Amino acid sequence: MTAITRTSYFEPIVPAPNPPVEGGPGPIGSLRLLVTFARNPLEATNAAHYEKPFAQLRFFGQMTTVLNDPVLIRHFLVENAANYRHGEIRQAVLRPALRDGLLTSDGETWRRARKAMAPVFTPRNVHGFAASMRKTAEAFAETLKPGKALLAPAMSELTYRVLSEALFSGEISGDTEAILADVALFLEMLGHPDPLDVLRVPAWVPRPTKLRGRSSMKRLRNRVRALIEAREKRLEAGETLPRDFATLLLEAGRGTENAFSHDEIEDHLITFIGAGHETTARGLAWTLYLLANDPVSRTRIEAEIDALDMDHIAEQDWLDALPFTRACFEEAMRLYPPAAAIARVAIREDNCNGVVVPAGSTVLVNTWILHRHHLLWERPDSFDPERFMAPVRDRIDRFAYLPFGLGPHICIGASFAMQEAAILLAVLIRRFRFDYAGDKPPWPVMRITVQPDNGMPMTITAR
Ligand code: HEM
Repeated sequence: MTAITRTSYFEPIVPAPNPPVEGGPGPIGSLRLLVTFARNPLEATNAAHYEKPFAQLRFFGQMTTVLNDPVLIRHFLVENAANYRHGEIRQAVLRPALRDGLLTSDGETWRRARKAMAPVFTPRNVHGFAASMRKTAEAFAETLKPGKALLAPAMSELTYRVLSEALFSGEISGDTEAILADVALFLEMLGHPDPLDVLRVPAWVPRPTKLRGRSSMKRLRNRVRALIEAREKRLEAGETLPRDFATLLLEAGRGTENAFSHDEIEDHLITFIGAGHETTARGLAWTLYLLANDPVSRTRIEAEIDALDMDHIAEQDWLDALPFTRACFEEAMRLYPPAAAIARVAIREDNCNGVVVPAGSTVLVNTWILHRHHLLWERPDSFDPERFMAPVRDRIDRFAYLPFGLGPHICIGASFAMQEAAILLAVLIRRFRFDYAGDKPPWPVMRITVQPDNGMPMTITAR
């Protein structure tokens, strides 16, 4: 529980949970729920789930245990994680695109890759990207014009540019606009499960909804492949290469049995594109929206950022030097977790404190619900960055706040994303103020990420 330090807070408008139905929703209710769920899972949540430590539901014969209790979450997803694998629908949607990347591999393939990836994401390597993050953000800020603009696509473009520098140092072939268009189509494909996936139709049956995304995926893969091959030749010739992810992956375990093959490097780089920029972009857009509605926090974050000596403090230290900025981003990810569903399927039956999870059934942590749970948060629906300021933040249970997931599959890019968020917010807020300019509040919709339905129109003013 957190301390209350103010009397009024901004409470964003979000989908209201559905009232519980005595005896379950019945066939018609279930069908209606399925349609709502397909449109926007955030509109299909149940009010009871915000009050109870767990809930078990049957949905078209499939049992799901929704976990909202830190003790249960810790047991099922951390202590007994070896008993769980990724869910079938998630894999059917993501695997054709991401193949054996870290997000979609399972079992021994995943274990080996995760271990081999550890040296790539060391604090030293992540810090090494900080100066380039700032440079990219400053260059982007130069192109931002005061006036009305859609913030959500702008943040996706900015975070893609940051990630692309970190992955390839700008050496990928093709112009950025064409690549961005392909990445957008690729992400759209990932974000829309085909009905055939939901119905568990075998993978060899063509998915009509995926055709457009498939050709952009192919172009993207060809570009990444060409870059890996060019780098390999340079590495063999003894050239000094840029210290980016492409080089780090080529070098990881080189000459040993732990080295990645070119196919694996391609899958990992494609996965980073899929997992590593839209998530951060959503977090940034929601942060700026919440700040636009909370003058007290906005004044405070502006003061903190204005006081930062950007010329003398190294960019890698900005995250620690900006505790309130960090708190605003963390609070935005509490209210709008960018990747809100963590689902696993039990291999064998499991039991914690009498909660029995049958073999083959799903356990789900829906962080949209967990982060607004009435037993875990005071004023769960209010924007209150103070919760994440020391020392009050120590009262937040480790398993009650999970924007980056948990257990063995915890986000490998978390420290990259946090460092990036602080740098990008500092550069943008130092120069601009963002005021919400929509006719109605942005409605959150969950695709793969939690995104605004209207692109988030903002009036941008130079400060
Ligand atoms: C604010 C930004 C981000 C958020 C909220 C986020 C969230 C998450 C979450 C919740 C998971 C766990 C998924 C699961 O357990 O099913 C995850 C995994 C992952 N994330 Fe992130 N992520 C972010 C940024 C990044 C970045 C910048 C990268 C790469 C540069 C990245 C790469 C990955 C990968 C590869 C995995 C799979 C890890 C594994 O299964 O071993 N993410 N992320």
